[in-house]
Amino acid sequence: MAEADIGLIGLGTMGSALALNIAEKGFTVAVFNRTTEKTHAFVDEAGDLADRVVPCETLEALAAAIKGPRAIILMVPAGDPVDQQIEALDPHLDPDDLIIDAGNANFRDTMRRMEALERPFLGIGVSGGEEGARHGPAIMGGGDKAHWDRVEPILTAIAAKFEGSACATLMGENGAGHFVKAVHNGIEYADMQLIAETYGLMRDGMGMAAPDIAPVFARWNEGRLASYLIEISAKVAEAHDAATDGPLLDVIVDAAGQKGTGRWTAIEAQHLGTPIPVIEAAVSARNMSAQRDLRATLAEAFGGTDRLDLPMDTLEAALTCGKVLCYTQGFDMLRAAAETFDWSLMREDVARNWRAGCIIRSAMLDDMAEAFEVAPGKTLMEAPYFADLLSETVGALREVVVAASGAGLPVPAMAAALGYFDTMRLARGTANMIQGQRDYFGLHGFVRLDDGESDQHGPWAE
Ligand code: 6PG
Repeated sequence: MAEADIGLIGLGTMGSALALNIAEKGFTVAVFNRTTEKTHAFVDEAGDLADRVVPCETLEALAAAIKGPRAIILMVPAGDPVDQQIEALDPHLDPDDLIIDAGNANFRDTMRRMEALERPFLGIGVSGGEEGARHGPAIMGGGDKAHWDRVEPILTAIAAKFEGSACATLMGENGAGHFVKAVHNGIEYADMQLIAETYGLMRDGMGMAAPDIAPVFARWNEGRLASYLIEISAKVAEAHDAATDGPLLDVIVDAAGQKGTGRWTAIEAQHLGTPIPVIEAAVSARNMSAQRDLRATLAEAFGGTDRLDLPMDTLEAALTCGKVLCYTQGFDMLRAAAETFDWSLMREDVARNWRAGCIIRSAMLDDMAEAFEVAPGKTLMEAPYFADLLSETVGALREVVVAASGAGLPVPAMAAALGYFDTMRLARGTANMIQGQRDYFGLHGFVRLDDGESDQHGPWAE
């Protein structure tokens, strides 16, 4: 008998956590996994919640277990597995049954699927890792409002809450939800990189040991930088390794993994023509981190770095400044995408959604939501609160980038943030030289500053 409120396919880490979250909120969830053993193991481990879990061994059984019109969440790896799963599931469904892809899909795949499928489809980004999925993730939806409304009560119930309001938002049409999730991850990369650079300055510039760095992050987590990523950085720095009887950080290989969402953000920014240099620097930094052997060789060839001394307050202010500039870029990218793809996406809704549950959750996002409300259409750099904050902290960012450069210590994301700031506040830029060069070698034409005439050429055209 059909008794389940919703179905879920894919009982990996995130899928299992999400299914338990759904059951805990009082909904009955029918679950299916490619390997049946996993399905049974999941129910065995569900404890009291097992009463609200319907294990299904076939897709046919899954369809039979869900009340119509059905809604089924896919939590399978992004890419081909999603297409294969949809193809396998489709024959068992009725025309108005809703498929929800809750994986980290590329938004272009989501748009393609929505276009191709003759059934309701939502693409939702889910952030917060396993802990978030289990106890309250941030949910970024994309698709038709009518389809969203069908599952909104469940999504709202399982989502994280910020001061009582649920972090489950329909961001806009078709691929908007997965796009917002990609930008979230791009910012996640940048936020993490800025923190890692700051850690590097303390470690290599000031000779601080990880256990001494931990309380610095912990203290910053009490102030303007309060965020999940700063909080966990303190915990990571503090962790002890029993095998070596030393800091765990010191035994972790310095090569960052990546599943691709940050890279997608960088690629899409280029398609949109939106500058996101801090995020791009963070993606490149992960790529550079992976070249460990080459780095070891070049360290031999070119020598090491020097010491530096920076007040902790200056480092904190520099990190704050870098963070604001990175978010400025991420939100500008969202605005550009909304225009290009004709999405109703509002940046304040995104900022509100990110206040709890997701990996980049932070106190500052609440101020950002307010900033977009008081200064609609403006970038974060123009919003009064953040303009003041930037004015107050950019000197520290400059001091840190200068000191780091002097000591030969790499701060690619901080330097990118400063470069962005300086470029964007330079009313008379230097691209007149580029236009001159383009005209010289290709007669591409330039616009004159004095009379606004376009398609002008230099004397070399004669
Ligand atoms: C989240 C995260 C998550 C992401 C991991 C790993 O919001 O919960 O962004 O979706 O998959 O953080 O990402 P990388 O492997 O690319 O670092």
